[in-house]
Amino acid sequence: MNIQSGNLEPGAARCPAVSTQDIIAQDKRPAPDWIRSESYRYLGSDDIGTDRYTDPAFQREEFARLWTRCWHWACREEAIPEIGDYIVYDIGQRSFIITRTAEDEVRAYYNACLHRGTKLRASGSEGCASEFKCSFHGWTWHANGQLKQMTCPWDFPHVEPENFRLPEARVELLGGFVWINMDPDAPNLCDYLGEEATRHLKSWKLEDRYVHLHVQKSFPANWKLTLEAFAEAYHVLDTHPQVAPSNADANSQYDIYGDHVNRFISCLGVISPHLEGRYTEQQILDQFTVGDGSMLGEDRPMVGDGTARQAMAELFRTTFEQQTGSDLSAVSDSELLDCFSYTIFPNTFLFPGISLPMVYRFRPDAADHRRCIFEVLFLRPAPKGGPRPEPAVVTLLRDDQSFCEAEGMDPGFGKILDQDTDNLFLQQQGIEASAKRGLTLGNYQEIRIRHFEHAVDRYMAMPPMVPRNAVSR
Ligand code: FES
Ligand SMILES: [Fe+2]
Repeated sequence: MNIQSGNLEPGAARCPAVSTQDIIAQDKRPAPDWIRSESYRYLGSDDIGTDRYTDPAFQREEFARLWTRCWHWACREEAIPEIGDYIVYDIGQRSFIITRTAEDEVRAYYNACLHRGTKLRASGSEGCASEFKCSFHGWTWHANGQLKQMTCPWDFPHVEPENFRLPEARVELLGGFVWINMDPDAPNLCDYLGEEATRHLKSWKLEDRYVHLHVQKSFPANWKLTLEAFAEAYHVLDTHPQVAPSNADANSQYDIYGDHVNRFISCLGVISPHLEGRYTEQQILDQFTVGDGSMLGEDRPMVGDGTARQAMAELFRTTFEQQTGSDLSAVSDSELLDCFSYTIFPNTFLFPGISLPMVYRFRPDAADHRRCIFEVLFLRPAPKGGPRPEPAVVTLLRDDQSFCEAEGMDPGFGKILDQDTDNLFLQQQGIEASAKRGLTLGNYQEIRIRHFEHAVDRYMAMPPMVPRNAVSR
């Protein structure tokens, strides 16, 4: 018998405080069914081996077995709005030219010349082009991938232009993102996500958002370790104590969907069960509306007869409507307030709620398995009827810079990201210093980490895949 959970089956124990579903059920504007449901499954209690975070060979194999087979997003569609627009997307040493070839068609070309391999466009570049010409000897491809010209074709009688189309990765468009996959045999994106998760994703209508802020920083830890630091609310009390008074951390809800998607729902405007009874409803509300987290103007909002959560819902609704010029009258209190976090394997976190409308992306640093590239994008609702705002350009932060230094970053949120960064630095080092070779996970609150690592294991058990043309034209 487990002393913590009595006679319950493993994975059945929950925080004894009010549940996420009970909190949401009391809201004035009811939440849709994809929020009012649970999908937890117990996946075992074994330790997760730490070699996966510390062994450079493991990361090399991930590039050959995992990244070659999974769907991951290369850019937002709004980054290439016009036909001919392109942007270079890198994952490890692989590089792709993502280009719009028709109003509703985007292609992903391997970014390498078929003569002697030179990159056709430098990493980090973007622009608009009707052709892609190699800077070395001038071989040129049409925007549709057909070979247009070789210099001195008399010297290449063995090159048949129809066999020298630019090889492509597969592309699908969903939620305003351009998703790519190098594997010709991979399931399509909706099958990869599964029916239920696809329905959730479509319901959030992320294609109607625009990139308000985009910040990138190198993190001092393996990409999987970094991603996992954001997959639970279990760390809120000790890592981010300043938000615990208005964040239902221990009673957050965790769900898994199929092999590639999981989520949590963490309610805001309610107190952490760890702090129950220590704050009044007015003080809970004040956490969000005064001090560091202020985004709601000068007047101090009052709880009145209701709860902090109810007052916050009304306040957020009017404030965000004014800020974004959008109509949020049909949006439930939960969608407005709560922190929804979906992981789409392998490296995307979507936070589709309105108060924390973000995307995180985690990419391994090909040169150092102890580092990764972290990005946060804030996606605001695009104004109804008005012109779509230009997407924000990426702000690159140096290692020694705080997230608060990124122009436009809410200082309260920047501080949270800095706190997570400090932990990761210590965690990567601690794992390497440890006499224990595994991470021990909670059955419920850390289920997203186990679910994620099981998917890693499945891909790592597959043979390496040599990328090849995944699209026949
Ligand atoms: S390497 Fe590109 S044209 Fe020679
Ligand atoms: Fe955190």
